[in-house]
Amino acid sequence: MIQTGLEGKVAIVTGAAAGIGYATARRFAQEGCRVAAWDVRDGDIPPGGVFSKVDVTDTASVAKAVEELAGRWGAPYVLVNNAGILRDGQLVKYKDGNLAGVMTDEQFDSVIAVNLKGVFICARAVVPRMIQAGGGVILNASSVVGLYGNFGQTNYVATKAGVIGVTRVWARELGKYGIRVNAVAPGFISTEMVKQIPEKILQGMVGHTPLGRMGQPEDIANAYVWLASDAASFVSGAVLSVDGGVVTGT
Ligand code: NAI
Repeated sequence: MIQTGLEGKVAIVTGAAAGIGYATARRFAQEGCRVAAWDVRDGDIPPGGVFSKVDVTDTASVAKAVEELAGRWGAPYVLVNNAGILRDGQLVKYKDGNLAGVMTDEQFDSVIAVNLKGVFICARAVVPRMIQAGGGVILNASSVVGLYGNFGQTNYVATKAGVIGVTRVWARELGKYGIRVNAVAPGFISTEMVKQIPEKILQGMVGHTPLGRMGQPEDIANAYVWLASDAASFVSGAVLSVDGGVVTGT
């Protein structure tokens, strides 16, 4: 039996209305955390927790939510930066020898705003509270594609590789305050985000996964709980792949 030490701690999960964030909010609640679930869209209240409409790209909205939370329950101990979006497209696309399309500025900027700048905005808002309270854990959503690259995902891969970079910077900067910072790199997890991918491509991805299945949101939620727990008290600056063993080129 692993002692998580999470009972009674305050955890924020961004992008918690669906998919991995939804499962993660519930998993932390199971551990006895008081969970603040944030999302831009409506969502369910996790057991014993709260749900708030918070856009991670909006500094004022995040600051207000952190202040409200601190007033209600005190400093957050865990921040799971999970919110993320896709806006796929090739850098340049040719059809019959003619330029048929490019990745637009809007496609690039919108994904950077949520997946990378959102992580920065939330961490910047929460860290002073964690320092005041004597410690905490920040967990960032990367991806296997942040490690290996992926066709049609210039914007998304830039953010997921960027998230690994900021994880390592913050692990260095914040360790002295008792704050651990880690990233999780999920493989292909069965959520709405992945349902946008055509079935044939999905089957190909499963074929490249040694464990021979897609992951479930709970697989990632369990990794976040372990990384936040006392069992991982010497783990910081790490990127934990939770991907069924998927490796590039296999
Ligand atoms: P999802 O699309 O099912 O859920 C993402 C949630 O984030 C949605 O509820 C959405 O409303 C919310 N969100 C979007 N923009 C937001 C904003 N500005 N502020 C607050 N919330 C916002 O996605 P999924 O699959 O659960 O992914 C969660 C995270 O895991 C993402 O960062 C994704 O990039 C990452 N990931 C997912 C993989 C997968 O196979 N599903 C693989 C690798 C990484």
